[in-house]
Amino acid sequence: MNRKFENQYGYFTEDGREYVVKTPFTPRPWGNIISNGDYSLMISQTGSGYSWRGNAGQNRITRSFQDLVKDNWGKYFYIRDLQRNTYWSAAFKPVMHPYQQYQVVHGIGYTRIMQQVEDIASTLTIFVAPDAPLEVIQLTLTNNSSETRELDVTSYAEWLLGFSPDEHREFHKLFIDTSCAGQAVFATKCLWGFPDDKGRWNNVDWPYTAFMAVSEPLKSFDCDKESFIGMYNNDDRPRAMTEPTLAGRTGRFTDAIAALQVAVTLPPGASKTIVFTLGAAENGTEDAHELIARYTSITGAEQAFAALQPFWARFLDREQVETPDDAFNFMTNVWAKYQAISGRLWGKSAFYQVSAGWGFRDQLQDSQVYLVGDPDFARKQLLLHAANQFIEGDVLHWWFTIRGGGPRTNCSDDLLWLPFILHSYLQETVDYDILDEQIPYLNGPAEALYEHCKRAIERSFSRFSPRGVPLMGDHDWNDGLSAVGTLLKGESFWVAEFLHMVLGGFIPLAQRRGDDRFADRCALVRDSLKVALNQHGWDGQWYLMATTDDGLLLGSQTNDEGKIFLMPNIWAVMSGTADGKRAETALASVTQYLLKDYGTLLNYPAFTRPRPDIGYVTRYAPGLRENGGVYTHAATWSVWAYARAGQPELAYEAYRRICPPNRSADIDTYKAEPYVTPGNIDGPLSEYYGRGGWTWYTGSAQWLHRVATHWILGIRPQEDGLLVEPSIPAHWPGFKITRTFRGAVYAIEVENPQRVHGGIRLVTVDGQPHSSHILPVFGDGKTHPVKIVLGT
Ligand code: GLC
Repeated sequence: MNRKFENQYGYFTEDGREYVVKTPFTPRPWGNIISNGDYSLMISQTGSGYSWRGNAGQNRITRSFQDLVKDNWGKYFYIRDLQRNTYWSAAFKPVMHPYQQYQVVHGIGYTRIMQQVEDIASTLTIFVAPDAPLEVIQLTLTNNSSETRELDVTSYAEWLLGFSPDEHREFHKLFIDTSCAGQAVFATKCLWGFPDDKGRWNNVDWPYTAFMAVSEPLKSFDCDKESFIGMYNNDDRPRAMTEPTLAGRTGRFTDAIAALQVAVTLPPGASKTIVFTLGAAENGTEDAHELIARYTSITGAEQAFAALQPFWARFLDREQVETPDDAFNFMTNVWAKYQAISGRLWGKSAFYQVSAGWGFRDQLQDSQVYLVGDPDFARKQLLLHAANQFIEGDVLHWWFTIRGGGPRTNCSDDLLWLPFILHSYLQETVDYDILDEQIPYLNGPAEALYEHCKRAIERSFSRFSPRGVPLMGDHDWNDGLSAVGTLLKGESFWVAEFLHMVLGGFIPLAQRRGDDRFADRCALVRDSLKVALNQHGWDGQWYLMATTDDGLLLGSQTNDEGKIFLMPNIWAVMSGTADGKRAETALASVTQYLLKDYGTLLNYPAFTRPRPDIGYVTRYAPGLRENGGVYTHAATWSVWAYARAGQPELAYEAYRRICPPNRSADIDTYKAEPYVTPGNIDGPLSEYYGRGGWTWYTGSAQWLHRVATHWILGIRPQEDGLLVEPSIPAHWPGFKITRTFRGAVYAIEVENPQRVHGGIRLVTVDGQPHSSHILPVFGDGKTHPVKIVLGT
């Protein structure tokens, strides 16, 4: 097997579907977010992590606290040798015992930790069952010594059961009850952090039964942290490891944990597999005992593991690319899609950030990742977000996933993502029926989705400055611009461009529905936005970001910090609001000031002093996150802008620099996982220029996938067919992409004999010449070979 992108910490396997970590000592926790859309877990290369159901903030099952340095909260498995009187753990944490071998494999839906300690090899495979609210841990031990070994294996996890953090632990522990039955321990809690139906707090049950079970007869068990860890001890040296058996404490009066101990005798060369399950069954609808019986065995675990591959194939494999760039292939085929779905849409949690909600704009954008594999999931997401809109057209900025509710704000862009994503969905599916889906408002009766979008647009129309530029409101896409326009005077030039693009997609929809008056109105506003932007938003060499409530300019040559912002300059190109010369000049400024070694910066230079009239973006240390860092989500859009402007080499550069596997070579600078996108990379003013952070939970994953396929490969669904308009680096001899589109498979092979960037010389479909670079819609369930020759 050829190792790809290998460095001192790890490598990709040849097909890119697994990332192998070679040591526990990576520069940051390198993890996996594993989810089935309901039950999720996080695990790092040390074996630390935690589990949740439905929501990591509101319904955490096991406890953990954010600590990237110690990375010391987990569900742990101790292995003890009774004759040698020593113990270690099946992962590096918590015992950190010297090891003979150590390797962690992060895969699609599973993580495997392999090590050898004291001549006992162990393989711990952890995954979430595709169709049940539980995780399975398979632990295989092999005796590689020449003597028979008397071992025991002890599991350990702290129950949290509800909102995280449970700040007042001494209060919360008073409501938990634990018990043991058969080969399992159970935990319930008669308190959850939601009000009851009369609005009374601290008055409802946590409606689940948590369990941990094991496939072997119990040697002993415990549900009390005090007896297990021992007062003033730590989990690397628990008292339990010095006692012959666990204390067996349960009930209402403990500090609740789950610990199961089983005995394992291994003759030389022998192996033994033990299966643990951990989960939470919803009371009344699911039965913890039945779930335990189904999964807590070697065959149960094997069947569940085998189901992972088809489960993920549906989301990942219906579009596969083959280009000369492995980093591009690995991210596009596997990791960006997996990250967007498992991490962002389902798990909604990571090491750096835990979410308790759906972000109105966030998961709508993310849902585009479903469009090729299973657009129905994107459809559901659209309808869900529409249901979180007010009849006045505005929306919740985010809302809690379990019971709803969240902040209503004057954010200026959130609401417009509804028609924006609807447009992408329709380009892929032409499912115009969705427009008639009746969805209630948060404060009003049901209306068709079309009306929801219309209300969002009309609301946006009502928030313009006297000179016709959209108001910034509480902020635009950049949440950190949190004080620029709260008095509803400051303007956002980016929103002008964004709205212009949204209207471009919506006008044909309005016409299609015979809503000509609205279509005409949109067309008028659209034109006026372009005029206003170019009249008031041009700063000479680039577009301004905004004006503040006080009438000051932001993103101008006249500023000494935050002189130039990425967003208004690339979206001017993407939206077509900048014509010829200006588009060229604006992009040239982006290239000059913002396109750096590690990707495209969000603004430059970073703010070094807090500016109360701009907002918290100026309060971050310079170079971090939205303050002059590479904000990866937005950096992906620079790929789109360069491609759209006919600058394919720069498009590829902007892509290549943020494509994580490429950072394997300078990993001690970069630090983050090379297989998932980071939220941000430190900008030039940071002392850690080039350092990646906030991985997994970022909107950049979906967009990295989309700009790669839509704007570099140039395969874009549109109303009348599948457009092929590559914008590739000239050195590529060609590429292949196979993807489903409206019920047929397109096996597209692009040849580039003249080493050009794009431009199509020849198209054949099913072996027949085809006169257009828009591929016809077949919808016949068959595979259609398409051959394309680039050149003139
Ligand atoms: C965060 C938010 C996202 C926002 C971005 C830029 O990622 O979740 O909604 O657009 O920051 O501020």
